[in-house]
Amino acid sequence: MIVLIGFMGAGKSTVGRLLAAKLGLPFADADALIEAEQGLSIPDIFEGYGEPEFRRIEAETITKRLAGPETVLSLGGGALGTTAVRDALAGHQVVLLDVELAEALRRVGGDGSRPMLARNDVPELYASRQQAFRAAAKLVVPVTGRTPQEVAASVLAALVAPGVGE
Ligand code: S3P
Repeated sequence: MIVLIGFMGAGKSTVGRLLAAKLGLPFADADALIEAEQGLSIPDIFEGYGEPEFRRIEAETITKRLAGPETVLSLGGGALGTTAVRDALAGHQVVLLDVELAEALRRVGGDGSRPMLARNDVPELYASRQQAFRAAAKLVVPVTGRTPQEVAASVLAALVAPGVGE
């Protein structure tokens, strides 16, 4: 399983789709799976049930999918906050799309469909997630200033290089 992780705005879904097409694998986006299974949008889940319930559903969805057939899977930016998700990532080809905060905010800062961006501590949130991202990643690919095509090409090159991404 190739799993894309990183902060909101890193381009996980866009790059994931490109990678899946090049590898001839299915693509799945954890947030889209959650929305389809719950019949609710992510903001509606946050608003109606709160973040802890969202994280419970998120972990369940991701761990189930990680046990399924080979896929390129992109995770929501906060998924690694849950121990079950971090544990389930062991043994998978986990790729961190490493975006600088300023670039992430340029890309998705005004997006009302991301409840975590409405908080007033986004820089602290960004900083607090970096360690878990790096601990989980087998491969770190910088994305700031690069197109999704360039990023996908870097990921592919690293995945086929011997000894990397196994
Ligand atoms: C979140 C990121 C979102 C989504 C939810 C929470 C987060 O996914 O899972 O809004 O906590 O960073 P993206 O990283 O795809 O925006």
